[in-house]
Order: sequence, then C-alpha cells, then structure tokens
Amino acid sequence: TYLGALQSFSMYEPRYVQVPTDEHGLIPEALTPKLTAGARLLYAQPNFQNPTGRRLPVERRRALAAFAKTAPFPVIEDDPYGALDYAGEPLPTMLSMAPDHIVHLGSFSKVLAPGLRVGYIIAPEELIFKLVQAKQATDLHTPSFTQRIVHEVIKDGFLDTHVPTIRELYRDQCAAMLNSLERYMPEGVTWNRPEGGMFVWVNLPAQIDSMKLLAEAVAQNVAFVPGGPFFANEAQHNTLRLSFVTVPPAKIDEGVARLAALIRAKL
Ligand SMILES: Cc1ncc(COP(=O)(O)O)c(C=O)c1O
Repeated sequence: TYLGALQSFSMYEPRYVQVPTDEHGLIPEALTPKLTAGARLLYAQPNFQNPTGRRLPVERRRALAAFAKTAPFPVIEDDPYGALDYAGEPLPTMLSMAPDHIVHLGSFSKVLAPGLRVGYIIAPEELIFKLVQAKQATDLHTPSFTQRIVHEVIKDGFLDTHVPTIRELYRDQCAAMLNSLERYMPEGVTWNRPEGGMFVWVNLPAQIDSMKLLAEAVAQNVAFVPGGPFFANEAQHNTLRLSFVTVPPAKIDEGVARLAALIRAKL
C-alpha cells in the first residue's frame, strides 16, 4: 500500500493487518469478523492504487461500500488518481455508494501541482469536526494563499481542458513503458498493465533485491522506487515501482533497456 499512508499511520504505532488482494485489488470477501476484529479504520485506494496501479472493479466497490455501512470503523477511500483514467471508463466512487460511511480523500497534487499541498476530505458530518481539530493540531491549517491559488486556477473550468491533456500524455507514456518492458525484460520478470494512474508494479525473480538493484540503476541514471517500503508487514523485496509520468517515451525506452540489462546480469 501507499508508503506515505504507512508513514503517517506509523506515528500512532498501530498493528497493521493486511487485507488479502489479487490483481484487481482488495478482496472484500476477505474482510471477515476475525480479520477486522479491533480495527480502527480500513484504508483503501480503489483507483490506480499506489504502488500497483490496480483498479477495484465496480462489484468490489459495491461490496466494500456495503461493508462500510455496517463496519464499526470508517472506511477511507484515498483517491488522488481517479481523474487519470486511460481506459475512458471512470468507475463510481465508494463515496457515491455510501456517503454516510466513507471518508473520501481527494488531492490537487496529481492534476494541478503537488507543491501547492492542497487536497480535501469528504466525510460524514460528525467526523469532519474531529478532522478539523486534528488538522489544526497538526499544522494549524493549509495556507489560505495556496487554497486561493487553486480556486483561481480552477474556477473557470481549467481542469476540464487540462486533465484530458495530461491524460493523453500519460496514456501514451504508459503504453511506451509497457512496450519497452515487453521488448527488454528477461523471462521471470512480470508486471501489470495499469488502466490509469502513474505506476507500473514489477515483480522480479525471488533472488533479486530491488533495494540493491537501485544503487546500480542510479549509477546509470535510472531511478525507481524499491517495493519493500510499500508493505505494511512482510515486505517482498523482489518488487519495484516504475513511474511513467515524468519522462518522454524515448527516455522511458532507454531507462527500461538499462534496467533490464542490470536484471539480466543477475539471472
Ligand atoms: C495514494 C496516495 N495518497 C495520497 C498521496 C499524497 O497526496 P498529496 O500530495 O495530496 O498529499 C499520494 C501521493 O503520492 C498517493 O499516492
């Protein structure tokens, strides 16, 4: 799961319980009373999950929204990537299915600018008051100045033209990365084919530790995020996250070729 979420939760020293997942994301049937006993919240990313790029199918969203209606704890829908949908088929949010039971997190980081640090929460009214208190205790408030900048930029519909532009750009870069992976990666390396978001999640042969691989890759001007820190409990160190959003297709191709050569040398 998203390592930034793990970092913020870890300050409260929780005991993490992982919900089983497959290539479509979280498996709602796995949320048995035994698994969730004593839970304080459930954290989920239905859209193009960080780091795997997976998207939760609509039936699973319905099941999770139904679960949220009876669960004695809030279900968090962290959704910064929902607008970056390359398949052209946006799926309904869980918020729309259970508005009184879902805490929905949104962000302007992925569609406007991460440096502005402006995002938002949609939550049941009784929770909002507590969240405002928690936010005040953390940083007093998000600067009014950056909030006003976001308001000025988007109030006349800027995002309606900007989002399709970046969607097209990222869709092409995603396709380029998938082509390059196909072309260069040796047998034994697998990856997913995301329908949106920013990431491709790569599984390496079990003996390769992506943390060690990173140093060698950086020496060749190739960067990725090792997969280990994205695990709440037992880390799988033979995983890594690639991002296709910041460099053009020709550089993606060269980067994947260099990475593949390093991996091939370890087989
Ligand atoms: C799942 C997820 N949630 C939240 C964030 C952070 O968003 P923000 O920049 O709004 O803090 C990220 C960014 O990487 C993310 O991947």
